[in-house]
Amino acid sequence: MAIPPGIVYLGQRLPRIITPPALVYLVLYGLRTCLQVIVSPYLAFVAYALCWPTALAIQVQYINLLDYRAAQAHGAIMPPRIPDRTPGGAATLFKSIQNFKKAYPGDGLIDQIEKLGHVLTLRVLFENRIFTDEPGHIKSILTTQFEEHEKGEEMRQVFHSLLGTGVFASDGDMWKFHRSMSRPFFSKDRVQHFDVFDRHAEDALGQMKARLKQGFPVDFQDLVSRFTLDSATEFLCGQDIRSLSAGLPYPRDSPEQRQSSSEQHPSDRFATAFAQAQVNTALRSRYGQYWPLFEFWEDKVEGHMKIVHEFIEPILHEAVKQKQAVAPEDSKEPDTLLEHLVNSTEDHIILRDEVMSLMAAGRDTTASTLTFAAYMLAEHPHVLQKLRDEILSKVGPDRRPSYDDFREMKYLRAVINETLRLFSVVPFNSRITKHATIWNPVVPGDKPIYIPAKTKTIFGVFLMHRRTDLWGPDALEFDPERFIDERLHKYLTPNPFIFLPFNAGPRICLGQQFAYHEVSFFLVRLLQSFSGIQLAPDAQPSETLPPNDWAKAAGRKSVEKISPKVHLTLYSNGGLWVRMEEAGLSEAA
Ligand code: HEM
Ligand SMILES: *[C@@H]1O[C@H](CO)[C@@H](O)[C@H](O)[C@H]1NC(C)=O
Repeated sequence: MAIPPGIVYLGQRLPRIITPPALVYLVLYGLRTCLQVIVSPYLAFVAYALCWPTALAIQVQYINLLDYRAAQAHGAIMPPRIPDRTPGGAATLFKSIQNFKKAYPGDGLIDQIEKLGHVLTLRVLFENRIFTDEPGHIKSILTTQFEEHEKGEEMRQVFHSLLGTGVFASDGDMWKFHRSMSRPFFSKDRVQHFDVFDRHAEDALGQMKARLKQGFPVDFQDLVSRFTLDSATEFLCGQDIRSLSAGLPYPRDSPEQRQSSSEQHPSDRFATAFAQAQVNTALRSRYGQYWPLFEFWEDKVEGHMKIVHEFIEPILHEAVKQKQAVAPEDSKEPDTLLEHLVNSTEDHIILRDEVMSLMAAGRDTTASTLTFAAYMLAEHPHVLQKLRDEILSKVGPDRRPSYDDFREMKYLRAVINETLRLFSVVPFNSRITKHATIWNPVVPGDKPIYIPAKTKTIFGVFLMHRRTDLWGPDALEFDPERFIDERLHKYLTPNPFIFLPFNAGPRICLGQQFAYHEVSFFLVRLLQSFSGIQLAPDAQPSETLPPNDWAKAAGRKSVEKISPKVHLTLYSNGGLWVRMEEAGLSEAA
């Protein structure tokens, strides 16, 4: 039996919990024995009750004073703080949890950035977190001061039930070990082999056509999540989960949905458990170091991961067994990531952590990109037309696209980039400073910015990608041409750190090329088959449609037809229900 997370948490902090009442006890004891002063039971009770908040307040004030002094000594300033009068910043935490459930990504920060600037202090439960959407600071975090900004112990614990010690949440030697184990697989020309994508794309598009012919709209997000799950499991392990074989869901209110039993399909069990594990992990990260108090008696990720592991374990066993059966001189080039991994280790836990990390990193991310690409193509038919023209002229109406095709399809890349700019898959991310660090000022000549040691720094590429001062006055519009015309040279070329969908530096996404290929492949196949996409708001669950008050808001919030939400990655709440015109059918008419 594992010890409940809350008990572990309190156990680790026992000295800090016991010290304040112990001090009160000693003072009362001293008063009584040395000075013969008897404190009334009522006063003693008050003293005990107030000892923790008082100790905390003294500690917080003391640390703030030290930070302030240290900043001054460096000729630097602390980032301005978002005002919050509630004790310890309880209101800020409450708002961030609420926003996690209901609001538009970045709500709550945008107003503050307008008032206070692009680097801010948020006080959450007595702990300062620094937020930035400034390219220079994000560059410091990810590249020039990489060594000073780590994922840290807190992130490791938050992600541990989901990913173990895998590449995604580890630091230092453990991270290097995992990264160097997986990297060779991605640099091989193997990422140019599209057989895996082709089979699953064909399956997905076939099912979509059939469903549309029946007269129903399709949840595109669900569809591409199945496509990327089957592709990822086959690419990584050589065996796919066959989530497409579960069939597509019908709109919620249709009689067909009530009859269908796709909920029970084993691959749906896997997908639901994995999704829930990620959602609960994302919620944990909002609570920061205090998360065990919110899962006091039970780890809320572990149970879901048990279901996930039941699927993965037999595949791992099989891979290790096969490797052991082959004499070293007969071994061939590994075909899958798992085959490649078992050549470096047979340790089950390491294999499982690495496979799950890559699944988490590679699956929802590509599905998200495809979902928002389809959303934007539906909203911008002229872009769809232009992209389709490029596809038909470079690849034709039915040929399978190749690596060389993609290199020549500039508009396709621009559409993908523009999707990743506006709907950044990893909208917010964070690191913790190892030591006190100095960031350059936002405006050259101003005082630099002091970041204390052990401070969580949150960077928001989602907001940075939408800044009009960095991207031009039309930054909120979807316009792929900005990656091709003079705007490219005006904004992005001189300042490449304004566009960071895959991050940068030593921890840059390992799967970037793989992702571009997978997304490109699917989009080409999609537009070879279909000539138009329309949103189907009638099928979207009504409570997930953008609330009426969004129409009055600033920014893209007012034009959105679906609700973008973040767990670990960006997704469309309630799915993306669409209708599409099959190519040929409408064109012949
Ligand atoms: C459009 C799709 C994708 C996007 C936008 C994306 C974005 C990112 C980002 C922002 C990070 C940095 C996370 C951090 O350091 O906190 C990352 C890391 C990573 N990505 Fe991707 N990713 C995508 C697809 C993929 C795919 C398909 C794979 C593999 C099959 C993959 C594998 C990884 C790995 C292994 C890391 C961790 C690297 C490290 O920490 O050293 N990604 N990705
Ligand atoms: C898309 O963005 C990547 C950087 O992430 C860049 O290398 C590539 O040239 C861009 N392509 C186009 C067509 O904009």
